Amino acid sequence: MNSPQQSLTPDYFDSLYNADADPWKFETSDYEAKKYAATLAALPNARYRSALEIGGSIGVLTSMLAERCESLLSIDVSEMAQQKAIDRCQALSHVRFQLMCVPESYPDEQFDLTVLSEVGYYWCREDLQKAQQLMLQHLEPGGHLLLVHWTPYEDYYHNPLSGDDVHDSFLSLPSPQIKHLRGDRAEKYRLDLFERVDETL
Ligand SMILES: C[S@@+](CC[C@H](N)C(=O)[O-])C[C@H]1O[C@@H](n2cnc3c(N)ncnc32)[C@H](O)[C@@H]1O
Repeated sequence: MNSPQQSLTPDYFDSLYNADADPWKFETSDYEAKKYAATLAALPNARYRSALEIGGSIGVLTSMLAERCESLLSIDVSEMAQQKAIDRCQALSHVRFQLMCVPESYPDEQFDLTVLSEVGYYWCREDLQKAQQLMLQHLEPGGHLLLVHWTPYEDYYHNPLSGDDVHDSFLSLPSPQIKHLRGDRAEKYRLDLFERVDETL
Protein backbone atom coordinates (compact mmCIF):
# COMPACT_ATOMS: atom_id res chain seq x y z
CA MET A 1 0.00 0.00 0.00
CA ASN A 2 1.23 3.53 -0.75
CA SER A 3 2.03 5.89 2.04
CA PRO A 4 -0.47 8.76 2.20
CA GLN A 5 2.38 11.14 1.33
CA GLN A 6 2.80 9.62 -2.15
CA SER A 7 0.50 9.58 -5.12
CA LEU A 8 -0.96 6.15 -5.88
CA THR A 9 1.09 4.54 -8.63
CA PRO A 10 0.11 2.89 -11.93
CA ASP A 11 0.79 -0.53 -10.30
CA TYR A 12 -1.96 0.15 -7.78
CA PHE A 13 -4.51 0.72 -10.55
CA ASP A 14 -3.26 -2.21 -12.64
CA SER A 15 -3.79 -4.55 -9.71
CA LEU A 16 -7.31 -3.20 -9.19
CA TYR A 17 -8.18 -3.77 -12.87
CA ASN A 18 -6.52 -7.21 -12.77
CA ALA A 19 -8.81 -8.24 -9.94
CA ASP A 20 -11.96 -6.72 -11.46
CA ALA A 21 -12.38 -5.27 -14.97
CA ASP A 22 -14.83 -2.66 -13.62
CA PRO A 23 -13.76 -2.09 -9.99
CA TRP A 24 -16.06 0.90 -9.39
CA LYS A 25 -19.04 -0.62 -11.30
CA PHE A 26 -19.12 2.26 -13.76
CA GLU A 27 -21.05 0.15 -16.27
CA THR A 28 -23.86 -0.93 -13.96
CA SER A 29 -24.16 1.41 -10.96
CA ASP A 30 -27.25 3.57 -10.76
CA TYR A 31 -25.27 6.02 -8.60
CA GLU A 32 -22.61 6.41 -11.32
CA ALA A 33 -25.27 6.78 -14.04
CA LYS A 34 -26.95 9.63 -12.13
CA LYS A 35 -23.60 11.27 -11.38
CA TYR A 36 -22.60 11.07 -15.05
CA ALA A 37 -25.90 12.71 -16.03
CA ALA A 38 -25.21 15.52 -13.53
CA THR A 39 -21.64 15.83 -14.86
CA LEU A 40 -22.81 16.31 -18.44
CA ALA A 41 -25.63 18.64 -17.35
CA ALA A 42 -23.10 20.89 -15.59
CA LEU A 43 -21.18 21.62 -18.81
CA PRO A 44 -22.16 25.15 -19.90
CA ASN A 45 -21.36 24.70 -23.60
CA ALA A 46 -23.34 22.46 -25.91
CA ARG A 47 -20.13 21.57 -27.78
CA TYR A 48 -16.40 21.72 -27.06
CA ARG A 49 -13.67 22.02 -29.68
CA SER A 50 -11.05 19.97 -27.89
CA ALA A 51 -11.56 18.27 -24.55
CA LEU A 52 -9.25 16.39 -22.19
CA GLU A 53 -10.41 13.70 -19.78
CA ILE A 54 -7.85 12.80 -17.10
CA GLY A 55 -8.21 9.23 -15.79
CA GLY A 56 -10.72 7.97 -18.35
CA SER A 57 -10.64 4.39 -16.98
CA ILE A 58 -12.74 1.92 -18.98
CA GLY A 59 -14.40 4.70 -20.99
CA VAL A 60 -17.95 4.85 -19.66
CA LEU A 61 -17.90 8.61 -19.04
CA THR A 62 -15.59 9.00 -22.07
CA SER A 63 -18.26 7.71 -24.45
CA MET A 64 -20.80 10.17 -22.99
CA LEU A 65 -18.43 13.14 -23.10
CA ALA A 66 -17.63 12.28 -26.71
CA GLU A 67 -21.14 13.36 -27.71
CA ARG A 68 -20.34 16.93 -26.63
CA CYS A 69 -16.87 17.25 -28.23
CA GLU A 70 -15.38 17.75 -31.69
CA SER A 71 -12.25 16.09 -30.34
CA LEU A 72 -11.66 14.27 -27.04
CA LEU A 73 -8.37 13.00 -25.65
CA SER A 74 -8.75 10.49 -22.81
CA ILE A 75 -5.66 9.64 -20.77
CA ASP A 76 -5.08 7.03 -18.09
CA VAL A 77 -2.20 5.22 -16.38
CA SER A 78 -3.71 1.76 -16.79
CA GLU A 79 -3.25 0.03 -20.14
CA MET A 80 -5.79 -2.65 -19.23
CA ALA A 81 -8.49 -0.08 -18.43
CA GLN A 82 -7.66 2.00 -21.47
CA GLN A 83 -7.94 -0.99 -23.81
CA LYS A 84 -11.53 -1.45 -22.61
CA ALA A 85 -12.16 2.25 -23.27
CA ILE A 86 -10.70 1.94 -26.78
CA ASP A 87 -12.97 -1.03 -27.48
CA ARG A 88 -16.01 0.82 -26.13
CA CYS A 89 -15.29 3.92 -28.26
CA GLN A 90 -14.12 2.16 -31.43
CA ALA A 91 -16.90 3.74 -33.52
CA LEU A 92 -15.97 7.24 -32.26
CA SER A 93 -13.13 8.38 -34.50
CA HIS A 94 -12.87 11.79 -32.80
CA VAL A 95 -11.85 10.18 -29.50
CA ARG A 96 -8.13 9.59 -28.94
CA PHE A 97 -6.41 7.70 -26.15
CA GLN A 98 -2.99 8.02 -24.57
CA LEU A 99 -1.35 6.22 -21.67
CA MET A 100 -0.05 8.96 -19.43
CA CYS A 101 0.66 9.60 -15.75
CA VAL A 102 -0.23 13.15 -14.71
CA PRO A 103 1.61 15.26 -13.52
CA GLU A 104 4.78 13.41 -14.67
CA SER A 105 3.53 14.00 -18.23
CA TYR A 106 0.82 16.09 -19.80
CA PRO A 107 -0.50 16.36 -23.39
CA ASP A 108 1.23 19.06 -25.41
CA GLU A 109 -2.05 20.70 -26.49
CA GLN A 110 -4.52 23.39 -25.48
CA PHE A 111 -8.05 22.39 -24.46
CA ASP A 112 -11.33 24.25 -24.05
CA LEU A 113 -12.56 21.60 -21.58
CA THR A 114 -10.73 19.51 -18.99
CA VAL A 115 -12.63 16.94 -16.94
CA LEU A 116 -11.16 15.56 -13.72
CA SER A 117 -13.66 13.04 -12.40
CA GLU A 118 -12.72 10.78 -9.46
CA VAL A 119 -8.94 11.10 -9.92
CA GLY A 120 -7.59 14.04 -7.89
CA TYR A 121 -7.56 12.29 -4.50
CA TYR A 122 -5.07 9.71 -5.79
CA TRP A 123 -2.42 12.44 -5.91
CA CYS A 124 -0.34 13.62 -2.99
CA ARG A 125 -0.62 17.33 -2.28
CA GLU A 126 2.57 18.16 -4.23
CA ASP A 127 1.41 16.27 -7.33
CA LEU A 128 -2.06 17.81 -7.07
CA GLN A 129 -0.47 21.27 -7.12
CA LYS A 130 1.70 20.35 -10.13
CA ALA A 131 -1.32 18.89 -11.91
CA GLN A 132 -3.36 22.04 -11.19
CA GLN A 133 -0.74 24.23 -12.83
CA LEU A 134 -0.61 21.94 -15.88
CA MET A 135 -4.39 21.92 -16.18
CA LEU A 136 -4.45 25.72 -16.09
CA GLN A 137 -1.51 26.14 -18.50
CA HIS A 138 -3.21 23.86 -21.02
CA LEU A 139 -6.70 25.36 -20.70
CA GLU A 140 -7.61 28.09 -23.16
CA PRO A 141 -8.90 31.42 -21.85
CA GLY A 142 -12.64 30.93 -21.44
CA GLY A 143 -12.14 27.15 -21.27
CA HIS A 144 -13.92 25.09 -18.63
CA LEU A 145 -12.51 22.83 -15.94
CA LEU A 146 -14.97 20.40 -14.37
CA LEU A 147 -14.16 18.54 -11.14
CA VAL A 148 -16.28 15.71 -9.73
CA HIS A 149 -15.18 13.69 -6.67
CA TRP A 150 -16.58 11.31 -4.07
CA THR A 151 -16.60 12.96 -0.63
CA PRO A 152 -17.53 10.48 2.18
CA TYR A 153 -14.75 9.25 4.42
CA GLU A 154 -14.57 5.47 4.64
CA ASP A 155 -12.43 3.12 6.74
CA TYR A 156 -10.72 1.68 3.68
CA TYR A 157 -10.05 5.17 2.39
CA HIS A 158 -6.29 5.24 2.04
CA ASN A 159 -6.03 7.78 -0.76
CA PRO A 160 -3.54 10.59 -0.09
CA LEU A 161 -6.28 13.24 -0.29
CA SER A 162 -10.05 13.47 0.09
CA GLY A 163 -12.47 14.76 -2.53
CA ASP A 164 -12.93 17.91 -0.45
CA ASP A 165 -9.14 18.46 -0.31
CA VAL A 166 -9.04 18.38 -4.12
CA HIS A 167 -11.93 20.79 -4.64
CA ASP A 168 -10.81 23.15 -1.86
CA SER A 169 -7.35 23.29 -3.38
CA PHE A 170 -8.79 24.53 -6.70
CA LEU A 171 -11.07 26.97 -4.87
CA SER A 172 -8.04 28.50 -3.17
CA LEU A 173 -6.17 29.17 -6.41
CA PRO A 174 -5.63 32.88 -7.08
CA SER A 175 -8.77 34.35 -8.65
CA PRO A 176 -6.88 35.95 -11.59
CA GLN A 177 -6.31 32.40 -12.89
CA ILE A 178 -9.77 30.84 -12.68
CA LYS A 179 -13.32 31.91 -12.01
CA HIS A 180 -15.62 29.62 -10.02
CA LEU A 181 -18.84 29.24 -12.02
CA ARG A 182 -20.67 26.58 -10.04
CA GLY A 183 -20.43 24.36 -6.95
CA ASP A 184 -22.83 21.52 -6.17
CA ARG A 185 -22.73 19.07 -3.26
CA ALA A 186 -24.73 15.87 -3.61
CA GLU A 187 -24.99 13.31 -0.80
CA LYS A 188 -21.84 11.47 -1.84
CA TYR A 189 -19.99 13.67 -4.30
CA ARG A 190 -19.05 17.21 -5.05
CA LEU A 191 -19.00 18.97 -8.41
CA ASP A 192 -17.23 22.26 -9.16
CA LEU A 193 -16.98 24.10 -12.44
CA PHE A 194 -14.32 26.72 -13.23
CA GLU A 195 -13.53 28.95 -16.18
CA ARG A 196 -9.99 29.91 -17.20
CA VAL A 197 -9.57 33.66 -16.98
CA ASP A 198 -7.87 35.52 -19.83
CA GLU A 199 -5.02 37.14 -17.88
CA THR A 200 -4.05 39.36 -20.83
CA LEU A 201 -7.27 41.36 -20.51
C1 LIG B 1 -11.94 6.05 -10.20
S1 LIG B 1 -11.37 5.98 -11.87
C2 LIG B 1 -12.27 7.35 -12.59
C3 LIG B 1 -12.85 7.05 -13.94
C4 LIG B 1 -13.65 8.15 -14.62
N1 LIG B 1 -12.97 9.41 -14.65
C5 LIG B 1 -15.01 8.31 -14.02
O1 LIG B 1 -15.27 9.28 -13.32
O2 LIG B 1 -15.85 7.43 -14.24
C6 LIG B 1 -9.74 6.68 -11.73
C7 LIG B 1 -8.89 6.45 -12.95
O3 LIG B 1 -7.79 7.37 -12.90
C8 LIG B 1 -6.63 6.72 -13.36
N2 LIG B 1 -5.48 7.46 -12.80
C9 LIG B 1 -5.04 7.42 -11.51
N3 LIG B 1 -3.96 8.21 -11.35
C10 LIG B 1 -3.72 8.78 -12.56
C11 LIG B 1 -2.73 9.69 -13.02
N4 LIG B 1 -1.78 10.14 -12.21
N5 LIG B 1 -2.75 10.06 -14.32
C12 LIG B 1 -3.72 9.57 -15.16
N6 LIG B 1 -4.68 8.70 -14.77
C13 LIG B 1 -4.68 8.31 -13.48
C14 LIG B 1 -6.77 5.30 -12.85
O4 LIG B 1 -6.02 4.37 -13.57
C15 LIG B 1 -8.28 5.07 -13.00
O5 LIG B 1 -8.57 4.45 -14.23
